[in-house]
Amino acid sequence: MTFETQKSLFRQPVTPGSLFLSLEGIEASGKTTQIQQIEALVRQKGLRILTLREPGGTAFGEKLREAVLSSPTPLHPLAECHLFLASRAQLLKEMILPFLLTPGSVVILDRYIDSTLAYQGKARKLGYDTILTLHQHDPLNLLPHRTYFLDIDLHTSMSRQAVRGHEKDYFEAQQSEFYQNLVDGYRELAGLFPERILRIDAQRSAAEITQAIRSDLETLLP
Ligand code: TYD
Repeated sequence: MTFETQKSLFRQPVTPGSLFLSLEGIEASGKTTQIQQIEALVRQKGLRILTLREPGGTAFGEKLREAVLSSPTPLHPLAECHLFLASRAQLLKEMILPFLLTPGSVVILDRYIDSTLAYQGKARKLGYDTILTLHQHDPLNLLPHRTYFLDIDLHTSMSRQAVRGHEKDYFEAQQSEFYQNLVDGYRELAGLFPERILRIDAQRSAAEITQAIRSDLETLLP
């Protein structure tokens, strides 16, 4: 199956005035701060908002999150991948799809399909094709209207993580080669999905990043 055919098998939510957004980036790219800014803007417009994170967001998903992020042993990449997909399918069924049915609803998701493509597809070497194929069944074939990719380089991520200084979880403990693959993977994905993924230079100040997101979001919001 060609990559173009793969892409054509995906769909986007169609409720008028509803919007499905995701944020992506490596550790310490500043997603949390920007999500708060997006929430504020959406509220100002008087729209309904639901913010979720992956893995997690449902009772089942939070258990899976715990299972992956505190795994005492390295997991097989396929095991990792299927755990993330199980969490995602449940989140779509229980939370995302029902919420988006009401016009004027905005879902903001901290990580989604591009995390699986970058982490398991690129860095864990399963390949983009494998990950896309696994997503071609309902409800996993739902793509966001827009994905904000906060792009920072490896060095910036490492120094921000050092300042935070908390204990490293399962992925944070990986070597720098893994992280470089993630950075490369995300940049490739921005090229593969140019109509959906907006790459934002996140080496800049938080205020400048917010401004870049805002000016795009204003064009999407009803
Ligand atoms: P989290 O603490 O939420 O990371 P962050 O604060 O950086 O978003 O942990 C989620 C981790 O799981 C993160 O390292 C990325 C990884 N992940 C995958 O490897 N594949 C996936 O499909 C998803 C959703 C997350």
